Amino acid sequence: MKFFIDTAVVDEIREIHAWGVIAGVTTNPSLVVASGRDFHEVVTEIAELVQGPVSAEVTTLEADEMIREGKQLAALSEHVVVKLPLTPAGLTACAALSGEGIKTNVTLCFSTTQALLAARAGATYISPFAGRLDDIAEDGMDLVRQIADIYHLHGIETQVLAASIRHPLHVSQAALAGADVATLPYKVFKAMVQHPLTDKGLKAFMDDWAKGAKAK
Ligand code: E4P
Repeated sequence: MKFFIDTAVVDEIREIHAWGVIAGVTTNPSLVVASGRDFHEVVTEIAELVQGPVSAEVTTLEADEMIREGKQLAALSEHVVVKLPLTPAGLTACAALSGEGIKTNVTLCFSTTQALLAARAGATYISPFAGRLDDIAEDGMDLVRQIADIYHLHGIETQVLAASIRHPLHVSQAALAGADVATLPYKVFKAMVQHPLTDKGLKAFMDDWAKGAKAK
């Protein structure tokens, strides 16, 4: 399972990118607004930094507008993946953009049948939102698992991108569920790397090393 980072804050991306663990980035309109940056400018900067897939979401609702906006976004960088909502218009735009060789990420997926439609519309990625299903007392990771199983069963190449990940447990659950990619907020990366036994063990090694150096 690959990792993407789910943010439009360049400093957060730069920090986690330096760990060598992220293959791409996802953004959404809320994250772009929270970053305080110009949309096209920040997407271009992120694409240059990461040199991997960067999802940039359309902000229009009609298919012809989404197609126009998607082409503008795709023109920003070869790394841009056009993110489209799982609506009838989003599927139409997905089919049109995919037909022109533009990579797509169909977002706001909450059912297996939606995921099947996105795949048939040529989506490069499908984004089931696990955390938002958990929020309404449904099992979000069960949806991720079911989509991964169905795609596998039918030889569908659309990649399952587990989204709306809220904590490290979601990450291991997404990996076990067969997600191709999980997109994680900055704070989840920071939580994943921490372990008290790592800190305790490292302190002991450093203390022993310093004692050894003094003894020489
Ligand atoms: C993914 O592409 C979305 O931007 C994101 O995962 C949504 O997460 P949230 O439900 O925590 O807002």
